[in-house]
Amino acid sequence: MLSQEQIKKIESSSVTEAIKLVTEWFPLEVVFSSSLGQEDQVLTDIIFKNNLPVKIFTIDTGRLFNETYELLDRTTARYKKPVQVYFPESKDVEQFVTVKGVNSFYESVDNRKECCNIRKVKPLNRALEGASVWITGLRAEQSLNRQTMSMIEWSEEKKLYKFNPLINWTYDQMVDYINKNNVPYNPLHDKGFISIGCAPCTRAVEPGEDARAGRWWWETSQKECGLHQTVMSKG
Ligand code: ADX
Ligand code: SF4
Repeated sequence: MLSQEQIKKIESSSVTEAIKLVTEWFPLEVVFSSSLGQEDQVLTDIIFKNNLPVKIFTIDTGRLFNETYELLDRTTARYKKPVQVYFPESKDVEQFVTVKGVNSFYESVDNRKECCNIRKVKPLNRALEGASVWITGLRAEQSLNRQTMSMIEWSEEKKLYKFNPLINWTYDQMVDYINKNNVPYNPLHDKGFISIGCAPCTRAVEPGEDARAGRWWWETSQKECGLHQTVMSKG
């Protein structure tokens, strides 16, 4: 377990230093989940450029935008390093779409959550097997739910530390990093898309609209897919 002192050290270090520290404290047990969103591209740039020993993985739900797949190719070509791709279990998807329909997520919140569970949450759990630290690109600014998250917190459910190095970064800070470092990003961001997930469940947002308004826009639910809903404790 991390001591309060170690947690303070992480919180007061630069992103690069903080990731380096956790890889020293948990050798070969640090993984990073990338959706290829802007935040994740910043972290990928930092991890790859500094040769930090972190497994970077992405979950291909099978319903991503073509622009996202192209970005995955551009990213691995740019850094000449692999991003491990996880897929949902074929049996789960076959059963779900046969019984409920391919686009049944529009019909009810339950269907939508089941689809997210099959296509995202289950592959995530597989990708996290054996990990002690799970790095994410979460930022507090993204939603009310995310404002209550800490930079590093223990997940009792997953039995690992969830580490959100960019939790205090502003949107402008992130865009500035991308521009200054020429980080590859999804061209959809230039077309009004801020938070990008699966193609059928993501739309562009209007100026002034909430950053996550384009996710599952037909719902009034909390707009989380289940990846980040567990109860956490600090330290
Ligand atoms: S979601 O819960 O609404 O889908 P969001 O798109 O905001 O999440 O991304 C937040 C963080 O969740 C990302 O920085 C990344 O760590 C993780 N994440 C989301 N989608 C994926 C994905 N398809 N593959 C890997 N990680 C993901
Ligand atoms: Fe399914 Fe939409 Fe969730 Fe993607 S975001 S897993 S398509 S419900």
